Amino acid sequence: MAETRRLDGKTFLVTGGAGFIGSNFIRYLLQSYPDCKIINLDKLTYAGNLENLEDIAGNPRYTFVQGDIRDGEVVSSLYEKSDIVVHFAAETHVDRSILEGGEFVLTDVHGTYILLETMRNHSIELFIHISTDEVYGSRKTGAFKEEDALNPSSPYSASKAGADRLVYAYWVTYGLPVIILRPTNNYGPYQYPEKFIPLFISNALEDKTLPLYGKGDNRRDWLFVEDHCRAIDCVLNKGNMGEVYNVGAQNEISNIVIANKIVELLGKPESLIKHVPDRLGHDFRYSVDCRKIHSLGWKPAMDFEEALRLTVTWYSEKKSWWKKIKDKSRDFKSFYEKYYRDRK
Ligand code: NAD
Ligand code: TYD
Repeated sequence: MAETRRLDGKTFLVTGGAGFIGSNFIRYLLQSYPDCKIINLDKLTYAGNLENLEDIAGNPRYTFVQGDIRDGEVVSSLYEKSDIVVHFAAETHVDRSILEGGEFVLTDVHGTYILLETMRNHSIELFIHISTDEVYGSRKTGAFKEEDALNPSSPYSASKAGADRLVYAYWVTYGLPVIILRPTNNYGPYQYPEKFIPLFISNALEDKTLPLYGKGDNRRDWLFVEDHCRAIDCVLNKGNMGEVYNVGAQNEISNIVIANKIVELLGKPESLIKHVPDRLGHDFRYSVDCRKIHSLGWKPAMDFEEALRLTVTWYSEKKSWWKKIKDKSRDFKSFYEKYYRDRK
């Protein structure tokens, strides 16, 4: 096992820091490393939201740069000022990738390529790539180990698999200092309300129907976002170069069970849950074996029931945050109108 790295006083370049996990991670870093500095490079796509970081916007240790990870010049100028890169930026919603996959290839694959290629001319100490458990594809039983073959099945997960293996290729070919994480489905504060848990909570709060795909028996392993941040921290400190680490919480739950828990927590009728036509190519189940990251000392700290309650409370109290996205964002509305129209 590698020795614990010194992270105090480092400058972190976080890509996609205005999104869900990136914004939680920036807040986590500022709290955990009082001497660190953070540069957040984010294009502010429909999913990027500076309100996610309103509370720290004036922090002298934090700088926001609006830009695209595909812009080599911007990336190069930020690498000059950075020691460590944590790469979250991506197009992330499976349903959008089914409607139109082009941006997924351009950002997730080509964007990651630009970050890696630019790194060859800079002295970055460590590049953490946030991949996903979806790169393995679906399996009915058992759990994937890090060395298992990848078999992604949506345009999103295929793009993420391309990025994941590019990162590995730059380690093998050029010796760049990279580590890859493959986390499971995250949930928690500041998740864009098109994803399953925040969509269902916010729809229920508005007494709107909860569109459950197919029978609702698809399963995911739900990881609370703060546990994910702690996992990234663990790998920043102790991860081995060139390695892949699965990150899961062993909270495997079917969608219908979660939908029922949400309506129950909010005191809403079960009749809000409506079965709708299934997602095309819908992966049934993801599952990863996490013994490798456990051996570094990380384990999830949050219990699912407690963290879901906390998440439901957060969305109940932050109505203005998600209402602005759902009501005012033309993008949110036009996506859903098109999505459901195409699937009738
Ligand atoms: P998100 O969609 O909430 O945020 C993505 C962020 O990336 C946004 O702020 C967006 O503006 C930015 N971005 C997109 N394209 C960009 C570009 N070309 N240049 C610069 N910035 C750009 O995503 P998230 O849920 O926070 O996911 C973060 C990462 O974690 C992604 O790489 C995703 O694949 C991975 N991941 C997410 C989950 C999950 O459950 N959310 C699970 C496993 C892995
Ligand atoms: P999602 O949050 O899109 O994450 P992913 O597909 O990347 O795992 O979806 C989680 C699960 O919830 C997935 O099985 C699809 C399902 N789902 C619904 O049933 N209804 C919905 O409206 C959405 C967005 C997802």
